[in-house]
Amino acid sequence: MANRVDVLLGAQWGDEGKGKVVDVIAPGYQVIARFQGGPNAGHTLIFNGKKHVLHTIPSGVFRPGTWNLVGNGVVIDPVILMREIDALKAAGVDVTTRLLISRRAHMILPTHRALDAASEASKGNEKIGSTLKGIGPTYMDKTGRNGFRVGDLERSDRDNRYAALVKKHEHLLSLYSTTIAWKEAEKEWQDAASRLRDLRIVDSEHWLDERLRAGDRVLAEGAQGTLLDIDFGTYPFVTSSSTISAGACTGLGIGPGSIGKVIGIFKAYSTRVGSGPFPTELMDATGEHIRQAGREFGSTTGRPRRCGWLDLPALRYAVMINGVTELAMMKADVLCGMDRVKLCNSYRVNGIVTDRVPYDLSTGVEPVYETMPGWGDISSELPPALNAYVEHIERAVGVPVRIVSTGPDRAQTLLREGVGAAH
Ligand code: GDP
Ligand code: IMO
Ligand code: MG
Repeated sequence: MANRVDVLLGAQWGDEGKGKVVDVIAPGYQVIARFQGGPNAGHTLIFNGKKHVLHTIPSGVFRPGTWNLVGNGVVIDPVILMREIDALKAAGVDVTTRLLISRRAHMILPTHRALDAASEASKGNEKIGSTLKGIGPTYMDKTGRNGFRVGDLERSDRDNRYAALVKKHEHLLSLYSTTIAWKEAEKEWQDAASRLRDLRIVDSEHWLDERLRAGDRVLAEGAQGTLLDIDFGTYPFVTSSSTISAGACTGLGIGPGSIGKVIGIFKAYSTRVGSGPFPTELMDATGEHIRQAGREFGSTTGRPRRCGWLDLPALRYAVMINGVTELAMMKADVLCGMDRVKLCNSYRVNGIVTDRVPYDLSTGVEPVYETMPGWGDISSELPPALNAYVEHIERAVGVPVRIVSTGPDRAQTLLREGVGAAH
């Protein structure tokens, strides 16, 4: 029987620390596969005193012998991908021999980026706070059945296909009052696209099926987070892909029965970058303290992240939607030294206490907090107050917290209940 695919994904609003955990557990897998999102993602890995930020390439790339697959559900900007490859090569990482790109993945054109910028500019105060990487317009072309796919680069009429899509985009851009320059980005895009053509482009669903039948272990790496999901996130302040575990099926071409473990990543508190509702947001000195202590500035855009207490109804929702089987709690060190910490157990919505995430999180949702004792420095063991915090979370959401991360480095990772790294 073929092996299962474990899925690792964000259980909050992104930037939970997915990249770090993938890197930590990657030695237990032969294949790491990204299944959605694009260069809006920024996954940070730190080891041997060096920091690497990945946008398109899966976070298994630093583990020798691991295959890294960019699945069909991902949207690819070849310019950003080539920059990533060049940076990794400069750091001495052999990336291209073990990197595979799905022929069915859609490509982000310079005009998609321009459309993203024009759309955001036209929204004024209502803007999503997009990373401006062209994600929304590229997925719109995918579902609108106009998209340009990696496989199109291999066709003899690729230039005509590209030109036809650009023509359509030029028309759309002319409808906006803001003018966005994009033509000067075309040459670099064309150069990068022809380099992409020389990478290992595969029919990834078949390739993955063969690996699974051969007994390989596969880890599907999510981008963004559950509350940014196109269906279940805080719409319209979301991204344009399925960030949830079901997205691993469509984004890789595997059946639901093939999913094994679903590993949800969350921070000991909450953050969000960009606009949209955030019930536990702290607009005070505590929020600023968390931002500074946690270095909460975006890996992709450098924007300050909004910070707040842990939101348990939202985490429980993520566990439910994804079928999370185990959790990893990140950044426990950031709350070190606080006398007391708070967590939101439920919401009060129109005077009624509920632990459900309502349809609209933006108005009238008041967090109901519980205060717990804080903890001091974390050594090789969890201090009792931190352990109590983790156990409270486990009780509230009903799944075990297997990993507690105590710093950004690969080595700063504690495994609970004697659980091995990957299995
Ligand atoms: P991702 O998008 O989910 O991969 O997360 P990001 O890389 O965007 O953001 C997570 C940030 O937190 C990065 O700067 C990591 O280096 C850092 N980080 C991850 N785990 C920990 C941790 O346990 N403690 C601290 N202090 N930082 C961490
Ligand atoms: P990783 O994988 C955090 C947010 C943006 C914006 C909204 C839509 O690093 O966790 P988009 O560019 O997708 O149209 O932006 O989603 N966003 C993220 N926030 N982490 C991410 O990725 C994100 N990718 C997109 O800030 O609010
Ligand atoms: Mg990130």
